[in-house]
Amino acid sequence: MSKSLFRHAYERAAGLLELGKNGAKPTSREFPVLEGHPAGRRHAEQAMETFETIEEKREATVKEFRIYRWSPGRPHRRPYLQSYFLDLTTCGPMVLDALQKIKAEDDSTLSYRRSCREGICGSCAMNIDGTNTVACLKPIDADTSEPTTITPLPHMFVIRDLVVDLTNFYQQYRSIEPWLKTRHPPEDGREYRQSPAERKRLDGLYECILCACCSSSCPSYWWNPEEFLGPAALLHSYRWISDSRDEFADERLQALTEDQKRLYRCRTIKNCTKTCPKSLDPADAIHKMKTRHLLSVPVEKAESG
Ligand code: SF4
Ligand code: SF4
Ligand code: FES
Repeated sequence: MSKSLFRHAYERAAGLLELGKNGAKPTSREFPVLEGHPAGRRHAEQAMETFETIEEKREATVKEFRIYRWSPGRPHRRPYLQSYFLDLTTCGPMVLDALQKIKAEDDSTLSYRRSCREGICGSCAMNIDGTNTVACLKPIDADTSEPTTITPLPHMFVIRDLVVDLTNFYQQYRSIEPWLKTRHPPEDGREYRQSPAERKRLDGLYECILCACCSSSCPSYWWNPEEFLGPAALLHSYRWISDSRDEFADERLQALTEDQKRLYRCRTIKNCTKTCPKSLDPADAIHKMKTRHLLSVPVEKAESG
């Protein structure tokens, strides 16, 4: 009620001052034109206050997003950060909501991947304010005095804007043979069974959504993206090695360690664990595989490797 009264007062006063229609901002609190019209002046003062409050609040809710742009259609133009301004009161709470709004209402040329918008598909991975994460799980920083900067996952080839080339990443995932491998058919001829305790061993491993946030935050992976498998593929490798139904754990471990760079390029820096948006711990999985491998080989062989 009070809001509409204020709006009415503002419109009335703005009309009196002939300012409302062209959207011009009243500049004086003196209102000389209203001399001898105390009620009109009171309305005009209220309208001025309302106008200033609205302006202040508008500034407080408008946030700048600086987004990395590069198009293969203009290969000679350097990548640049483009600014977009969004009123956060008209936008959903997550960074992906902001991107959706920008793309729908402001700039349809902006490119990024997304699908599930609930942290399941892993496709909206990007770097937001210096941290790799999935945009649909990252709340917008409500501090409007600072822009939010969004860039593609680091150290990956950019296809366009925030879309990176994941070919190598998926090939590495495929190389660990991410499926159940057995030598014998199931005992009941129907399915391979696990006890609850065996199934529990897969917790913290099976939840990986292959977003690549961890691998693209790993310095060892930056410098050896082809030889070193990276934390995501290695976490999945450990997921199958840990599976009680899989009968190829030793062969899997051997395949990982034939070329020392595939596993042992991990220097336990733990960027992967720090950045994972699903709170998984690839560094721990890698450490356990190294330990298992070292315990399984004779000391002389490990030293000569
Ligand atoms: S712990 Fe290993 S895999 Fe993880 S970021 Fe460090 S070097 Fe990379
Ligand atoms: S371990 Fe985490 S960061 Fe790495 S791919 Fe899986 S979900 Fe993404
Ligand atoms: S859209 Fe699927 S994880 Fe973000």
